[in-house]
Amino acid sequence: MPKNIEDFDLNAIDAAFIDNPHPVLHRLRQHSPVHQNPDGSILLTRHADCQAVYQSRSMSSDKTRDFGEKFGDCPLYTHHTTSLVFNDPPYHTVVRKLIASAFTPRKLAEMEARIDFLVDRLLDHVEDLGTLDLVQDFAKVLPTEIISFMLGIPESHRAQLRGYSLAILGALDPVVSPERLAAGNDAVTEFSAVLGELIDHRRRHPEGAAQGEVLESLIFGDHDGRRLTQDELIQNCIFLLNAGHETTTSLVANSVGLLLDNPDQHRRLRDDPGLIDTTVEECLRLESPLQIGNRLATEDLALSDGTVIAQGTFIHMSIAAANRDPAVFEAPDKMDIARTPNRHLAFATGIHVCLGATLARIEGRIALGRLVRRFPKLRANGPAKRMPLARFRGYSDLPVQV
Ligand code: HEM
Repeated sequence: MPKNIEDFDLNAIDAAFIDNPHPVLHRLRQHSPVHQNPDGSILLTRHADCQAVYQSRSMSSDKTRDFGEKFGDCPLYTHHTTSLVFNDPPYHTVVRKLIASAFTPRKLAEMEARIDFLVDRLLDHVEDLGTLDLVQDFAKVLPTEIISFMLGIPESHRAQLRGYSLAILGALDPVVSPERLAAGNDAVTEFSAVLGELIDHRRRHPEGAAQGEVLESLIFGDHDGRRLTQDELIQNCIFLLNAGHETTTSLVANSVGLLLDNPDQHRRLRDDPGLIDTTVEECLRLESPLQIGNRLATEDLALSDGTVIAQGTFIHMSIAAANRDPAVFEAPDKMDIARTPNRHLAFATGIHVCLGATLARIEGRIALGRLVRRFPKLRANGPAKRMPLARFRGYSDLPVQV
């Protein structure tokens, strides 16, 4: 990283930043909180500024221009520019309403029983293993099963999901190698073919939909008479699958990593399991699975300190930095599993606020809470390895012993 923080370039980050971005983010927030990258984009690190951008109506999530330059005309471009998260109203509103109908409190309550059952089965498996990779053998299993169930993905296809997901989401990093681009494009093509067949099948056999299936609501639902086209259906299902399992896998793995690194807090949770809800929030704050958001300013925006972000500016919001802003969080680098209030931005805020936040919290609470309770001797069993991504923060390997 540059000696002079003013020379920091988000498009030229190194392995040390990916391993631990927080020292650099603290320096940026302190010395260059509205930081201009050499490409003209702005990186925001203060909580108030990130929140203001997320909540502003003068911001666009439409990435047609940005992804056109980054990807050219290819499957990755089609995918990312069709998914709701990278679109503005009115299209965003249509897709969001259709998806939201599958995430009502009643439907999520039904899902909770399934999560309970899956976690108990999974913990039996963990006990049999004794030593395991927490990501592969535990953290990724539950979110993959749940979102696959909601989208009606058959068991035979579930093993491929994480590979597809990492390839597609990895292409969103600020810097992407040609190999990673090729892998991302292949993943979109293969995944689209699989989903196209599933959607056609469900159209022909609507009676086969399981209770709580999102796919059915997306295919047959409409918003003011507008239904999704086949391509819109496919790309938004891919997005939901990716959004639904990759980040939640990291929530569980990052939480275990944090507890292993903070034995006092691990002990505290073992002694007082009632702290599980605030523990999950604290883990979301300290190691947010999604670290960076983006918007394009469609009008000038004045920040609270009077700085004006000009119309046309591409903005990066550092969720990771906002969540450790000392102006909002006392002792921001310290893990306190009872921290309240905890106004972190891990799920963002504003019109694109995460639609799966409640589901992710339920999964996190049950998976982490039960793991800690059932295996009081849980400990590290070798060096952990981070995923080599800047936008998404999680582990690729987390060897543990129960
Ligand atoms: C810990 C887990 C998760 C984290 C940290 C997370 C984080 C986020 C964030 C920060 C956004 C806003 C993106 C932006 O506007 O730039 C978002 C959007 C979204 N998330 Fe999540 N998410 C998680 C889990 C889930 C799950 C489990 C689902 C679904 C099953 C989901 C579905 C969505 C959807 C559909 C959107 C787009 C909403 C919109 O554009 O209106 N997420 N998520």
